[in-house]
Amino acid sequence: MSTPDLLDVVPVLPVVVLHRLEDAVPVARALVAGGLPAIELTLRTPVALDAVAAIAAEVPEILVGAGTVVTPGQAKEAADAGARFLVSPGATPSLLAAMDETGLPFLPGVATVSEALAALEAGCTSLKFFPAEASGGAAFLASVAAPVPAVRFCPTGGITPTNAASYLALPNVGCVGGSWLTPGDLVAARDWDAIAGLAREAAALR
Ligand code: 3PG
Repeated sequence: MSTPDLLDVVPVLPVVVLHRLEDAVPVARALVAGGLPAIELTLRTPVALDAVAAIAAEVPEILVGAGTVVTPGQAKEAADAGARFLVSPGATPSLLAAMDETGLPFLPGVATVSEALAALEAGCTSLKFFPAEASGGAAFLASVAAPVPAVRFCPTGGITPTNAASYLALPNVGCVGGSWLTPGDLVAARDWDAIAGLAREAAALR
């Protein structure tokens, strides 16, 4: 799958933090049941890499990726665990190179026009805009569309069911990312039906 395709898989990319490995497969199945067959599992907890591996092995119908990739080493670890795409909150030359070396599609994070141009110079045309709301929101992306037409974004950070549509309406937005689909309390309560319901609402946004 090429990187541009990554932005076209789902309208809302679920950004997921898991604390218990046993929640990985049920969360992935709930997202699929709700019509969102993609998951960005963040590398923020000790179980994250094992969770990626479990989902890759047991829920083949979901596109599982690793998020919060902040070091070159994590890019390789995530790929080795079975991640099928990578997402980083920012980008350095060495991090870009490490993600590229995995051969996987990836979304490097940017928050300014100069960062977007640097990523474009490195060959990336699909980027994560992070933290979206704190960095200018939909108005920023609308302003960037004309001067930087070669790039499309997945804005993430502060996206909600209420503001998602304003991003998705932009020509340079392929999808948005958000953690609201898998709130900590619903995961802790193992309320997979509620998570599937949130996914269903998000899947209808496009
Ligand atoms: C991310 O890593 O993309 C963000 O933490 C997700 O942001 P959100 O929690 O505001 O959706």
